[in-house]
Amino acid sequence: MASVSVDEAMRRAIALAARGLGATSPNPVVGCVLLDADGEVVGEGFHAYAGGPHAEIVALAQAGRRARGGTAVVTLEPCDHTGRTGPCSHALIAAGVARVVVAVPDPNPVASGGAATLRAAGVQVDLGVRGDEAEAGNIAWLTSMRRGWPYLIWKYAATLDGRSAAADGTSIWITSEAARIDVHALRGTVDAVIAGVGTVLADDPRLTARNLRDGTLAIRQPLRVVVDSSGRTPAQARVRDGAARTWVATAAEVGAGPDGRVDLAALLAELHHRGVRAALLEGGPTLAGAFLAAGLVDRIVGYVAPKLLGAGPTALLDAGVTTIADAIDLELTDVTQVGPDLRITALPRKREA
Ligand SMILES: NC(=O)c1ccc[n+]([C@@H]2O[C@H](COP(=O)([O-])OP(=O)(O)OC[C@H]3O[C@@H](n4cnc5c(N)ncnc54)[C@H](OP(=O)(O)O)[C@@H]3O)[C@@H](O)[C@H]2O)c1
Repeated sequence: MASVSVDEAMRRAIALAARGLGATSPNPVVGCVLLDADGEVVGEGFHAYAGGPHAEIVALAQAGRRARGGTAVVTLEPCDHTGRTGPCSHALIAAGVARVVVAVPDPNPVASGGAATLRAAGVQVDLGVRGDEAEAGNIAWLTSMRRGWPYLIWKYAATLDGRSAAADGTSIWITSEAARIDVHALRGTVDAVIAGVGTVLADDPRLTARNLRDGTLAIRQPLRVVVDSSGRTPAQARVRDGAARTWVATAAEVGAGPDGRVDLAALLAELHHRGVRAALLEGGPTLAGAFLAAGLVDRIVGYVAPKLLGAGPTALLDAGVTTIADAIDLELTDVTQVGPDLRITALPRKREA
């Protein structure tokens, strides 16, 4: 096989890492490509599920003795601690790898230190190769580890005039089946789905990740979280159907903000504590406004249907904006047509303190 450059190998490692998205929490996604001393690919792997072998271990097992004198190209700094698996730094040293190329340093204080251990053993370590790309592929995990609360994506569906329901309250199927299938795929990449009790009372959603055509549940289900200050979620609500874990988060359990409602920052901190790294906020307009007002939303995914209603509730209620100068500015990062609808992805710009 022809030799490949370290840069090409990192691109491949980043693509491999992405295969673990949605399955590795509370661990990151990681990809690894092992090159022998001549630069030939002799092993590759990715972290497929929490508790499973790390990417480096999978690649080393494939490479066998050909790893000796070679280069390991890894999207995240190899771990240096014994968790459910042994330290990857030690495994790389034992295999005789001469050089380790890393895209992003590990921000997790428990697992970091792999680069120092490798260097101390005489292994050359290079950091930062395709760092931005690898960072983007692991953004939810990296962000949540650095600050201690989950990466939060607010998803909504609306008509072109921003309505989330008609004047008579009917709202089911604003967007197309293609958009709804897309949402279920998005649910499959997060650890928790969050909705307000208002949505549970109005729509009685299941909030599971499933195949919309035959109803089959995805193997891995996000935790369903109902934000419900006083515990109004009915006993027979679908979110309590046992198809996935559910947490009805009350103010008594989480703590209350000044308005007596669930303290949203405390809620996110508790979710992080429970291993949630990425969460999807699915509504409705009251809760979304409160999360946005608190500056707790990291990404917005809006599904916009080519329909007009002219009346009816809007997709977003009070988000703490009273004058145009305070509008929440967004940076558009993607616009994709999904069936007849548009999926718009945007990042709230951080406000000046
Ligand atoms: N278009 C869409 O994408 C979309 C998505 C979801 C829902 N919806 C629609 O939204 C409608 C329901 O709207 P909604 O605004 O009543 O529902 P919501 O935002 O899901 O729930 C609001 C409720 O959350 C509770 N909550 C707890 N802590 C809170 C806090 N810190 N800040 C704000 N709220 C907090 C409050 O009730 P307590 O004080 O009792 O806890 C509040 O009334 C439904 O008609 C549904 O169809 C649309």
